[in-house]
Amino acid sequence: MSLTRSEAWEASFFGFPVEEIRMGNSLLADVADDVSALIEGAAPETLLKVSVDARQLHAIPWLERQGFELWETRYVWMTTWSRDELTQTHALHAALPEDRIVWGTESHHEAILSMTEAQVAKSTDVVNRFASPFYPEGSAETWYAKWIAQVLQNPKALVAVAEHGEDREVAGYFIYLPGEPQDGVDVYKGILSVIQPGHRGRNLHVHLQQFLFEEMAKRHERVTLDNTTQVSNYPVIRNHAKSGRRPDHIELVMFRGPHRR
Ligand SMILES: CC(C)(COP(=O)(O)OP(=O)(O)OC[C@H]1O[C@@H](n2cnc3c(N)ncnc32)[C@H](O)[C@@H]1OP(=O)(O)O)[C@@H](O)C(=O)NCCC(=O)NCCS
Repeated sequence: MSLTRSEAWEASFFGFPVEEIRMGNSLLADVADDVSALIEGAAPETLLKVSVDARQLHAIPWLERQGFELWETRYVWMTTWSRDELTQTHALHAALPEDRIVWGTESHHEAILSMTEAQVAKSTDVVNRFASPFYPEGSAETWYAKWIAQVLQNPKALVAVAEHGEDREVAGYFIYLPGEPQDGVDVYKGILSVIQPGHRGRNLHVHLQQFLFEEMAKRHERVTLDNTTQVSNYPVIRNHAKSGRRPDHIELVMFRGPHRR
């Protein structure tokens, strides 16, 4: 298995080389020499990421001594459900009389993009690599804007929107994208969800996901839901756990390279 993966999309987006060394769940003793060689061989302008399964936590101090800093995590949940399981209610509270869940249309795009900017890209609650000195100032805003705009243009994207009140204020959204089937089962990758701060705590995130599950159940006998979040994101983790998702693994992601801010 190759230890490295070139992050071509991210590299072309930011204009500097980005490479990920994937240690996965390998024992440090088995890969330390190869990882050292990859670090020494990297060009000085390269941003090196290293991802390590949390089960190999003791590799972190060794990586710190090689100059890596921990800035990101991937808490991966992989849940395979039958049609019946998708249509069961999952931690869904009573209907919300002033909210309705609808399919996203172009009329919602501006609200989705501005919520993403304010509640994810610029939010200090969302902890990720873009807050690190390894990325130029403003990277989170440009990266999320481009990513979500691309997803919204994808005709396969399932975009659910919560509208609130008579003036149909956009209170939140949740997006899934079909991925490559795994072991013959269709996969849906959770892209992003945001609930406006004034509308949090009302179970809207769960209402949005139920709306999407029902659509998946119309299309497939079984699906695998692929969700990734940061370990620091307690509201998402609580919602995944209480709605019966299955935690798969946690990766810790560290960074090394020139400072760009
Ligand atoms: C994640 C998000 C969509 C959930 O919105 P929501 O549906 O209103 O969720 P809630 O506010 O009801 O919170 C869900 C659970 O987390 C708990 N919670 C909320 N804030 C919390 C915090 N700061 N620490 C710990 N638990 C918290 C709630 O009590 C609730 O758990 P409970 O039902 O067991 O009591 C919303 O917090 C959000 O938009 N966050 C910013 C964007 C983001 O992180 N998106 C996800 C990226 S993967």
